[in-house]
Amino acid sequence: MATNRTFTMIKPDAVANGHIGNILAMITNAGFKIVSLKLTQLTVADAQAFYAVHSARPFYGELVEFMSRGPIVAAILEKDNAVEDFRNLIGATNPADAAEGTIRKAYATSIGENAVHGSDSDENAALEGAFHFAGREQF
Ligand code: CMP
Repeated sequence: MATNRTFTMIKPDAVANGHIGNILAMITNAGFKIVSLKLTQLTVADAQAFYAVHSARPFYGELVEFMSRGPIVAAILEKDNAVEDFRNLIGATNPADAAEGTIRKAYATSIGENAVHGSDSDENAALEGAFHFAGREQF
């Protein structure tokens, strides 16, 4: 059953390129309420743990290096049907395939450096949110 929360990160490429404000505006204009928010940076060990599900993939090392190289914005978002609606808002993993009006179409530069993360299931949204935020930081 769908829950009403998802987890996102604005990735190091989009933070470094000055897109935090515009991406948060796209998120809130699409009807998502921000219930947790922080600027933070993943250590290499954090990134390895967060992306452990991809550890056998050929791009894992590149992904870990990228996600730990600079600050990110982590957030928990609330909206009816949050996981599916947010994945529609961010667009396809590869920006070359992302639809007009999506965050990745506007701000992603490559399949690896694709500006934003969105949880792929309710279960992962809960796990990923808890990875970044204590209970008292979830409003
Ligand atoms: P995301 O879907 O947020 O989480 C997994 C990430 O792995 C994905 O975004 C991309 O950043 C990265 N990724 C997926 N496929 C590739 C690929 N073929 N080459 C490099 N990075 C990738």
